[in-house]
Formats: sequence, structure tokens, C-alpha cells
Amino acid sequence: MHTEHTVLLISADGRVHDEVAKALEVDPGYRLILCQSEAAAAARLNEIEAHLIICDADLITDLAANVLVDARISHPQVARVLLGSAESPEHCAQVARRAATYLYVLKPVPPDLIRLLAKRALELSELSRRHRVLSRELKISMDDDIFVESEEFSVKGGWSQFEKLVYVSAKMAELCAQAKQAAQTELPVLIQGETGTGKELLARAIHFNSKRMNSPMHVQNCGGMSDDTLHSELFGHVRGAFTGAISDRLGLFRAADGGTVFLDEISEISPSFQVSLLRFLQEGEVKPLGSDRLSHADVRVIAASNRPLYELVERGEFRRDLYYRLKGFELDIPALRERPEDVPALTQFFIEKYAGVVGRRVVGITKDALEKLEAYAYPGNVRELETEIRRMVAIAEQGGYIAARHLSPAFERVRTRKDDRLGFVAEGDSLKAMVESLEKHVVASSLQRNHWNQSKAADELGLSRVGLANKIKRYGLQDA
Ligand SMILES: Nc1ncnc2c1ncn2[C@@H]1O[C@H](COP(=O)(O)OP(=O)(O)OP(=O)(O)O)[C@@H](O)[C@H]1O
Ligand SMILES: [Mg+2]
Repeated sequence: MHTEHTVLLISADGRVHDEVAKALEVDPGYRLILCQSEAAAAARLNEIEAHLIICDADLITDLAANVLVDARISHPQVARVLLGSAESPEHCAQVARRAATYLYVLKPVPPDLIRLLAKRALELSELSRRHRVLSRELKISMDDDIFVESEEFSVKGGWSQFEKLVYVSAKMAELCAQAKQAAQTELPVLIQGETGTGKELLARAIHFNSKRMNSPMHVQNCGGMSDDTLHSELFGHVRGAFTGAISDRLGLFRAADGGTVFLDEISEISPSFQVSLLRFLQEGEVKPLGSDRLSHADVRVIAASNRPLYELVERGEFRRDLYYRLKGFELDIPALRERPEDVPALTQFFIEKYAGVVGRRVVGITKDALEKLEAYAYPGNVRELETEIRRMVAIAEQGGYIAARHLSPAFERVRTRKDDRLGFVAEGDSLKAMVESLEKHVVASSLQRNHWNQSKAADELGLSRVGLANKIKRYGLQDA
């Protein structure tokens, strides 16, 4: 599937859905996502990369606070078009004015007009996007003379995106290519990665790039749940199945029929629940708690784990057959420290995201601060970076740069290559001894900075791995 433009259609009216779908489906360059309510649309805007919103004015009741007004602020790059009723043209005009939509038209709208409208609105938002990028670069270059603290940084080449996932590294590019392939199939997907690497973001990206995109994706966290609770959440229960079961419950699998269920922390499920899940994956059978009746649900399962499931299988803690069922596709998201190339792009992306939200318009980040961010080890991965940027944007001066002094202590402590060279005093009473003490210092710092990843350190130092191993031995270096 090759989509260039994602159109979010917000309307509770099935006829409007049909008309817009018919008008746009002739062009494979469009992906149409249907939303029945403002709340659903707001959620979609945070899950997928949308380009155009077409909104039914009949759905809008509050002129001052509605999904279009919000989108104008939170997602200014998304074009907005309004469809109104011929019976209440004033209402439509008012909404259009308040939300500053590109245009409004009154229903019924001929298919040709819908296509033309979509095309023009998208062209306009692309132009304003380019304008924003250029103005930003211009602002930065005009500031260069007066800005003395340190060089500023900007991601010149930009970044790639798979829905809301931002990346530049080859590792992530490869992973997203696999995820796009997985999305085209019906197979279960197993996503593994440390905490904060973007497992849920990736699951949503897969869902919204599959043919199930217009059915729901439901999320179930499997950690810390009793078997009964989990069973009733996923498979449902009948009234009286256990104390407190005062009415029937449908269960997520059936509620998500036609869509996707995301099972988070899958490693935590008990052996007996593993059996139920296996049966569901094999037969699609759903048996609510306390009931003998079997029904079926057609859902795609995406599971996530921050512990490698294979290790649990090897230790006999997780069923091997279930593991193989779950990993129709296995996608392992690398930790952020294994792809430091992504840090500058993510930094820029989060600065733009939060500079807009708090209205402070931070212009960029200094090179010193970025070097610290790049050298950090990120136990909390992308989430930790995002939190740090959000905090720094909030405390940085209006219209200024994020600088090293805004970093929190954990980041401030990070030693970069420059720091390493700065504070060093050679020891020894001959040139040879001093040179050796410098060599020891340089090798030790490089190892520390690369978290004792010897091939990375060897690369950085221009040594072979054997050469590095020799230095480590010679100077008696050890991982602290
Ligand atoms: N590549 C990325 N681009 C942009 N944002 C990202 C990326 N990866 C993660 N994030 C952001 O980091 C945060 C954590 O992502 P997410 O919740 O998907 O991680 P997770 O792997 O499910 O974490 P956990 O194991 O703790 O549940 C979110 O705010 C998400 O938007
Ligand atoms: Mg998660």
C-alpha cells in the first residue's frame, strides 16, 4: 500500500462516510480514516500522521472548543476543510471562521469537488509547511551573529517517520520496513524492546497501516492481573460468573472484532492463561467466563514485551508453542543507546512538539547540550529523552536556545569527548610516561562513553578490536 496523504473524516453520518470514501478511493494515494466523534478524531491525531481533516459541521456543537479549533493549535500542519448542511449555512460559516478552516462547502458535495478540495487543501498545507521550515532556518541564521554561547544545531536532512515514530538510523529504517510488511499480513506480531522504546507507538502504526485501520485497536495490559480478571477483560464473562459479575461483559476480543488487540507485557501471563490465548490464536474461539457457548472473533493480535520472550521459553517459563504463534513477525526495537544517530532528530522533533504546546517558541538547542544528550545511556529510552526535552523547553528563556545549563543532573554529569580532553593533566616524568597516561585516559573515556561496547570504542579510536583489547590489557582497564 502506498499512501501519500492521510485524510481524517469526522462525521457521524454514514452517508457522508460513503460519499467521501467513494470520491477519494479512486486515488490510491489517499488513506481515509473514519471517525464517528470528536473524541475519536482527537485520539487518531495522536496516533497517526494525518494531512487533512474533513469535518462534518453537524457534529460540532461548541463553537469555541471543538476538534478543529484544537487541531489548529496542536497540529497546525494538518489542513482543515468543513462540510456543512444546506439547512444551516450560518452554523457552518461560523465554525469555519472560528477554526480557520481552508474552506467550507455545503452538502451534498459532488465527488469531483471533494477531490479538488482535498487536493487544494493539501497543496496549501504543504506550502505553509515549507514556509515554516524556511522561516525557521532564516531565523536561525539571522541569530547567528548575536548568539555567542555556542553553535546551534539543526537537523538539516530532516528525519523519516512511520506514523508517529521518528527516526534516521538504519536500524530503525529496517525495523519500520519490516513493520510495514507485517501490517499487510494477518499474522500476529511480537514487539520486543526495553521500556520507552516505542513499542505501543509501533503497534498503533501497524494497526493504522493494515486493512483493519477503520476498526478499533484495543489495548490490554497483561501485567499484574489475576487470571480471572484478564480472562474476563479479554474473553468476557456472563452475569454471575463470579462475585461482582452483575452483568454480561463482551470482552476485548469481541469488542475489537475486525480490528486489533494489543497485548502489552505479554511475558506476565500465567501458564493457564497461556493455554487460553493459544487456543484463541489457533481457532479464533472466544469462551466467556461462566459460559459454555463458544463464539468467534476476528482480531489481529499484536503483543509486546520488554523482556525477551525467547529467554523465558528457554527457562521453561513461557510456552514455546505460544511463543511461535505470537511471533508471526518479531520486531525488536533497539534501545536508544544503540542508535545514538536518532538522538538529534528526536531532540529536534520533541523541541518542535513542546515549543508549540507551551507557547514559548524555543528556537533550538546548543551544540554542547546536544552532545550531552547524545552521549547519555538512556535507561528509559525515548520516553526519557522526551521527558527531558519537555522539561527543558518549559524552563528555557522565551525565544532562546536550550543550553547545557538547562539539563537535569543525570544529563549534566555525562562526559563528552570534549570534556574528556579538557580536564586532563598528563602524569609521569618522561615524555613516554606522559604520552602513555594520555593514551590510557583516552581509551578509558572512550570505553566509558560507549558503555563498554568494544567495537564502537575501537571504531571511535581508529583501532582494530584486537588493538583495543591489547590496550585494555596493558592498562588494566575494567568496566566499573
Ligand atoms: N521513535 C519515536 N519517535 C517519537 N516518539 C517516540 C519514539 N519512540 C518512543 N516515543 C515516545 O516515547 C514514549 C514511550 O513510547 P511507548 O509508550 O510506545 O513505549 P513502550 O515501549 O510501549 O514503553 P513501555 O515498555 O514502558 O510501555 C511515548 O511518549 C512515545 O510517543
Ligand atoms: Mg508500552
